Amino acid sequence: MRKILITGGAGFIGSNFAVYMRQAHPEDRLVVFDKLTYAGNLENLRSLEADANYRFIKGDITDFEHVTRVFKEEGIDTVVNFAAESHVDRSILGPKAFIETNVNGTFCLLEAARQAWTSGGNRFLHVSTDEVYGSLGETGSFTETTPYSPNSPYSASKAASDHLVRAYFHTYGLPVLTTNCSNNYGPFQFPEKLIPLMVINALNGKPLPVYGDGTNVRDWLHVSDHCAAIDTVLSRGRAGEVYNVGGRAERRNIDIVEGICAAVDARAGSDEAIARLYSFGGSRKKLITFVKDRPGHDKRYAIDCTKIEKELGWKPSVTFDHGIKSTVDWYVANRSWWERIVSGEYLRYYERQYKDRCDAAK
Ligand code: NAD
Ligand code: DAU
Repeated sequence: MRKILITGGAGFIGSNFAVYMRQAHPEDRLVVFDKLTYAGNLENLRSLEADANYRFIKGDITDFEHVTRVFKEEGIDTVVNFAAESHVDRSILGPKAFIETNVNGTFCLLEAARQAWTSGGNRFLHVSTDEVYGSLGETGSFTETTPYSPNSPYSASKAASDHLVRAYFHTYGLPVLTTNCSNNYGPFQFPEKLIPLMVINALNGKPLPVYGDGTNVRDWLHVSDHCAAIDTVLSRGRAGEVYNVGGRAERRNIDIVEGICAAVDARAGSDEAIARLYSFGGSRKKLITFVKDRPGHDKRYAIDCTKIEKELGWKPSVTFDHGIKSTVDWYVANRSWWERIVSGEYLRYYERQYKDRCDAAK
């Protein structure tokens, strides 16, 4: 039985991972440690609440004393670090929190693990991103040896944390693993990110703000496949190694947004209750609005995940066409989850983020 500390486990990927692990490994103790920032949501973890082998702790990964106490109290032998400020646009508005959590927070966790783990059998998995590799041209893909070239405060802070993780392996022999993953989508993703933002705006008949000319490319992975990849690396990955994780599903933003419009139109067309709730005349494609581009906007990401496929036997299983339809269905069925979010502090963020963009594009 492992005693796993899941930091950032109330966020999008962390909560999907906690629920996934409960089913895949019922014997493990799961301790979710999360600051509950705007992106953390205990509703995501509701299905675990009655589980005696699960505990939620509200805490900040930059609080070394608290983290150390949890290691001792729970006898933590495994860490999966999801905790982060994760949104590129927010890092442009205000980078400080990104340095504090992503750099200092990861440092605190590494140091707590180093001090607590005096014998073997431990694992520290750091969840990172493909954005640390920078931007690609028309061809090629990121491998584990692609040099780091981060372009936003977010990706720079993740790159810094990856370097600390690497250093703790080489200097102290801490049994670390790093995964660098491409763009995730699926249930419980906070509405600031492209796919949920477009689904919710399309349902509500609001403008769909596409940055620049919409030709930037991302490589999409369903969150359930990411959870399976992390589980695989945790169980079978070699300490000190980096594993790239991707969906082999490159799409231009504009194609994603048009696909979401078609999926929402079809859903409303085939379901009277939905059509009444989100009445709209014609195709939602007419809501697409090209707005001012993101500063330093990376053109293209693509992950070469040959290493994890060959070495550990993981591969993505959810096709993008299936995944996007099921994700639209999830947001339709879980209206109360996102309505609570978009009516609160998010509204102020949205106005600040999009007003200038839309004005500038006029
Ligand atoms: P998210 O923003 O949805 O969730 C982040 C969680 O971390 C929230 O629950 C938040 O409350 C918590 N948190 C923030 N600061 C904290 C702190 N100081 N102490 C404790 N908890 C804190 O993010 P996500 O999309 O679920 O991403 C999770 C991780 O995966 C991040 O490290 C991100 O860099 C990485 N990642 C994300 C993607 C993606 O497409 N979303 C892709 C690759 C890698
Ligand atoms: O690649 C992995 C990364 O993917 C993760 O490390 C990040 O945590 C995660 O947020 C995500 O970063 P992106 O910047 O790629 O995701 P985002 O959803 O913000 O944007 C995806 C693309 O869509 C990007 O090219 C910008 C564009 N976009 C985004 C928003 C929010 C728009 O055109 N309009 C929008 O309103």
